[in-house]
Amino acid sequence: MSVLAALSGATVAALAVLVALNLFALVFGLSFLRASRAAKAAQRGAPPAPAAGAITRRDFFRGSLLSSLLVFGAEFGAGTLAFLWPNLRGGFGATIPAGTVEDIKSEIRDTGQPVYVGTGRFYIVPYEGTPTEDVDYVAAGLAAEGLMALYQKCVHLGCRVPFCASSKWFECPCHGSKYNEAGEYQLGPAPRGMDRFRVSVADGVFLVDTSVPVLGPPRGIDTIQQPPQGPFCVATG
Ligand code: FES
Repeated sequence: MSVLAALSGATVAALAVLVALNLFALVFGLSFLRASRAAKAAQRGAPPAPAAGAITRRDFFRGSLLSSLLVFGAEFGAGTLAFLWPNLRGGFGATIPAGTVEDIKSEIRDTGQPVYVGTGRFYIVPYEGTPTEDVDYVAAGLAAEGLMALYQKCVHLGCRVPFCASSKWFECPCHGSKYNEAGEYQLGPAPRGMDRFRVSVADGVFLVDTSVPVLGPPRGIDTIQQPPQGPFCVATG
């Protein structure tokens, strides 16, 4: 792994800001020193310093202004860099190893709920649905070994969608959209099913590629035919 790959975006940004601040302090300090010496020399009645080394009050303020602009630019650039820098340590935006298929399935069995992976902002749900003519999650690389990864974000207006333990559906608390356990649209204002991520399995480990969410299936797609298993957690509108 290269040195850059070992650093997180935040670390790179912090280093950039630190370097910029040090440069600013250096330039500012030197300018101040020169101005101070010139002022003392003038008080003593000493002859003015040679033109090449002299610094006027105007030069001093001009230099300070320039330094401030440079620092501002460096901070802005570092912030942008940190925002856009791919997360090389396995957070959202990277391919995340979510655990072994065996462990995930056993957790789902024991809790009766999907496994939530906060760092990747997704749920892992069991999936044994029947593909339709248009939608085949396995062929599309969206399901593997009977598991699928759903993006937590509601496709209506972006709220986080929790799983309802009684209905066994995903139910959005914001405006009441509901999706079955496979994240397929059932009720409410959402325009489609929940978005999802590409998945794969390597050496028994379930890998979720969170770099690009894949759009959820359109309304009307229901590959698991799962009615609500109990009362809803969010009232229907
Ligand atoms: S944000 Fe989920 S229903 Fe509106």
